[in-house]
Amino acid sequence: MTRITGKTRILFILGEPVAHIIGSTLLNEHFAGRGIDAAVSPLHVAPVDLPKVLATLRILRNVAGFGVTIPHKIAVLDLLDSVGERGRLVGAVNFVRRHPDGSLHGDNVDGLGFVGGLIAAGVEIRGARVLQVGAGGAGRAIAFAMAEAGAAELTIMNRSADKARELAAAVGRAYPTCRTDGGEPDTAACDIAINTTSLGMKDGDALPLDASRLAPGAVAAEVVMTPEVTPFLAAAAARGCKTVPGKAMLLAQLRAASDLVGLA
Ligand SMILES: NC(=O)c1ccc[n+]([C@@H]2O[C@H](COP(=O)([O-])OP(=O)(O)OC[C@H]3O[C@@H](n4cnc5c(N)ncnc54)[C@H](OP(=O)(O)O)[C@@H]3O)[C@@H](O)[C@H]2O)c1
Repeated sequence: MTRITGKTRILFILGEPVAHIIGSTLLNEHFAGRGIDAAVSPLHVAPVDLPKVLATLRILRNVAGFGVTIPHKIAVLDLLDSVGERGRLVGAVNFVRRHPDGSLHGDNVDGLGFVGGLIAAGVEIRGARVLQVGAGGAGRAIAFAMAEAGAAELTIMNRSADKARELAAAVGRAYPTCRTDGGEPDTAACDIAINTTSLGMKDGDALPLDASRLAPGAVAAEVVMTPEVTPFLAAAAARGCKTVPGKAMLLAQLRAASDLVGLA
């Protein structure tokens, strides 16, 4: 059990609803495991109250920062003093640092977490041909992060095809050395295939892509955390592919989030 004292740095995770939030438990375990004197609690914040809550967090001097989750990730952008490059590119913030003067700096660590998970699994991103399925919130963060990490090609496909094309174009503008395309991918020709959709969470979900066409030397990576082995990962493993589960992204995000709030 975390012992909270007057020296403990306090963090919150702001969301609505909050019953499903497990990030607070994982961050508390992360801090406890590293001997960092910090504690995290979810805070149930309705959208209408977000400005008032942020104004209050600015004046609470033992607050190190806070996470933001659904539905605040975009709305919070306009309430901060500064936003990092990743947050600006993605158009959403999920962690905020409170500086001693009360100013608030936010950024998006979803993509850093995903890339960190791949690196921890020994996957080489530089020069890779990447096929990404999905262009939602997680997908946006991951696409920019994969280009930033040196992917040579990024093909994005999505159920709503216009979102894939728009994201591919935005990533291409930000990282011109990465060849981007928002269309039908050549599954057999990719080095890293990523599911950034929610497909795989529910029984009976379709596969995000035809895993039987992946090259056996390819890597298949997931954002979905439950189940840990999704049908996509199982099908890729059956092809002989290396697989990286959604949990790897989450664990690396904990490190990135504690770095951002200055508690590394
Ligand atoms: N591992 C981690 O640390 C981590 C972090 C963040 C998120 N996640 C997970 O990432 C997943 C996506 O979250 P998000 O925030 O990006 O959600 P989101 O913004 O709602 O985006 C959902 C994405 O999934 C696609 N999609 C949903 N249902 C589909 C279906 N039936 N068929 C085809 N495509 C479908 C959407 O396509 P359209 O654009 O066509 O709707 C969109 O690309 C969730 O499972 C979430 O739990 C994991």
